Amino acid sequence: MTDAFARVAGTRATLREARIPRATATSVALLSDVHANVHALRAVLDEIDRSSVDLVVLAGDTTWGTFPTETVMMLRDLQRRIPTMLVRGNADRAVVELTDGLRQPETDRDTWMRDRHSTADVDFLRDAVFQVDVDVAGVGRIRICHGSPRADIEALTPRTPLARIAAAVDGVEADILVTGHTHLQFDRALAGVGRLTRHINPGSVGLPYHAGEPGARWARIGSGAADPLQLFITAYDLDAHLAALADSDDPARDRISQLLRVAPTPDELIEHAEALVFSD
Ligand SMILES: [Fe+2]
Repeated sequence: MTDAFARVAGTRATLREARIPRATATSVALLSDVHANVHALRAVLDEIDRSSVDLVVLAGDTTWGTFPTETVMMLRDLQRRIPTMLVRGNADRAVVELTDGLRQPETDRDTWMRDRHSTADVDFLRDAVFQVDVDVAGVGRIRICHGSPRADIEALTPRTPLARIAAAVDGVEADILVTGHTHLQFDRALAGVGRLTRHINPGSVGLPYHAGEPGARWARIGSGAADPLQLFITAYDLDAHLAALADSDDPARDRISQLLRVAPTPDELIEHAEALVFSD
C-alpha cells in the first residue's frame, strides 16, 4: 500500500497544517459528510440541541451538495450555540480550489458547485483544518480527520488491512481514530496500532452510500455511559429532501435522489473502497 500512497504523496490531498488544533470536551458530537443535505442536518442538530454535547466536530465534505449556502447558515448559527470545529474534506478543498482557479471544472456539476458557493460560503470552508485532536474527559484523545491522517482522499473501512492503518496513522498520538469519507458508519476495535484502540466512522449525515435504514448517521463520544461511543441514525423527512432536490437546478439531483433511495450494500461499498484505496 506504500505504492498507493506514493501516487498521492505531495499532492494537495496531503497538505496538513503544522499545528494540529486541540480541544477538550466532555461530550463531542461527530458529524461527517453532510454534503449540504439541510434536511438531514436540521434533524441531527435538533438532537444535539436536546443533548449535553459541548463540542461539535464536522469531519469534512460539509457543503458539497445541493444546498451549500443554507448549510453554512445553519452551521454558523450552530457555532453561536456550541463550540464547533471544522475539518476539511476533499470536497471542501475542491470548492476552494475551483474558486481560486487551482482546479479546473471537469463536469457541469463542478462549475455549478463553484458558482453555488458565495464568497462567504467559501470563506467558511477556508477556516477548515486538515485534522483536529479532542481530549474527552475519561475517554482519551480522539484524532478526527476526513480520509486519514495522511490524506483527505484515503478510504478507510472496517476491513482495511492493519498494515495500511498503521501506515496511515504513523506518528499519531491518540486513543481513538475518527475518519469520514467512505460514508459508512462503523466501529472497529484496534490493537497493535500505536495506542489506538478504536477506529470509527460516524457515517454520513446527508448521503449514506449504502443501503439500510434511512436516516442521518452521526456519533457521540463522551464519558458517563457504559460505552463512551454512541452511533446514531436520526430519522428525517427524506421525502421533503427529495422534493427539494427535484425542485433544484443541481445537475446531479437525479443521481443523488437515486443514491438516497437505492444505494449499494455496505459490503459492496467496502469492496469498492478497498479496491480504490485513495479516491477523490
Ligand atoms: Fe464525502
